[in-house]
Amino acid sequence: MIKIAPSILSADFSRLGEEIRAVEQAGADYIHVDVMDGHFVPNLTIGPLVVQAIARVASKPLDVHLMIAPVDLHVPAFVQAGANILTVHAEATVHLDRTLNLIRESGCQVGVAVNPSTPLCNLSSVLHLVDIVVIMSVNPGFGGQSFIPHALQRIKSVRRMITERGLNVAVEVDGGIKPDNIAAVAQAGADVFVAGSAVFSQPDYAAVIQALRHNASA
Ligand code: DX5
Ligand code: ZN
Repeated sequence: MIKIAPSILSADFSRLGEEIRAVEQAGADYIHVDVMDGHFVPNLTIGPLVVQAIARVASKPLDVHLMIAPVDLHVPAFVQAGANILTVHAEATVHLDRTLNLIRESGCQVGVAVNPSTPLCNLSSVLHLVDIVVIMSVNPGFGGQSFIPHALQRIKSVRRMITERGLNVAVEVDGGIKPDNIAAVAQAGADVFVAGSAVFSQPDYAAVIQALRHNASA
């Protein structure tokens, strides 16, 4: 099942509620929320207060991507704010097993993200703890960057790891996804696709979400 997750990082923040309703009506499956701390990544975005406001208008699950370090002490605030999927970076916490268990105990779905340069073997000891693996296809911090082609091989490898272990884990890809490259990303084994600038740069959100879904399913 293909899922399209528009990243609100590229939305018009002065009309955030309207933008969220618009992408939901246009066919979004998840609302992807990028949380950046100016430390783990070189940008600052939003915190739990804004996530709470988003949760009041959104009807689709909130896919909250935490790019913050340290992360454990902030997990409860994002859970209370209304996150449905909470993803942390493998690079952002020394005790990844502990962090993932903390999210599991909170009742959220559990995600782990890896930067483009992080060895995938780092995931092998935690794959059974997560619902979703996020393969970053840009270096996190900004919307509108180009897809890093090497991510395709990484998606294939992580999909193979999941299949070999008989696990039920989704593979999300985040960064530089467009209608013209999503087919290759889907063929590599991804099933959840984040798209920020590809969606919000277009006047017709429904048309671009439909094109993404169609090309991913082709
Ligand atoms: C990057 C973020 C992404 C980003 C995606 O750090 O995690 O979610 O907003 O934006 P696009 O689709 O424009 O690359
Ligand atoms: Zn993201």
